[in-house]
Amino acid sequence: MFDVSEILKDIAKRPFITVGFTALLLLIPLAVTSTNAMVRRLGAKRWLLLHRLVYLIAPLGVLHFWWMVKRDVTQPAVYAAILAALLGYRVIARLNQAGARTRRSEPLSKSTAATMPSMAARTLAASAVLNKDSDT
Ligand code: HEM
Repeated sequence: MFDVSEILKDIAKRPFITVGFTALLLLIPLAVTSTNAMVRRLGAKRWLLLHRLVYLIAPLGVLHFWWMVKRDVTQPAVYAAILAALLGYRVIARLNQAGARTRRSEPLSKSTAATMPSMAARTLAASAVLNKDSDT
């Protein structure tokens, strides 16, 4: 069976475990708030703010894997590169979006929605959930 004190000792002793455990703890609020009812309760803005934790958690996952590996870091390096490409894409898209907004003073342009399908879709989905709530 689980020996809780052994688990806690392991978490404190090995940095890669500490990081993995931290990532796991940080994932809990995201899991708990991933239902439509919780999105409604929090409101789109607060929900988005909370779920931005994933930008911290994902690098922690890579760090956890990197520190675990003893010699050949090829695999964690590949994970890190993929994550950097994905996060980099989002940073660039976000900067474009901010630029487009200030240039045109409009909330979300079609071109932005085209370059950021996931973010546009998520924002629309969150506001759809909220609008449904405000009808009742
Ligand atoms: C209490 C929390 C955690 C503990 C104790 C833990 C522990 C471990 C251990 C012992 C391994 C090595 C497994 C092996 O030797 O094959 C491992 C691998 C790994 N863990 Fe964790 N982990 C935790 C949380 C997480 C979280 C939250 C993530 C992701 C966000 C994660 C991502 C990974 C990855 C990507 C690997 C490498 C898998 C592979 O070998 O391909 N871990 N973890």
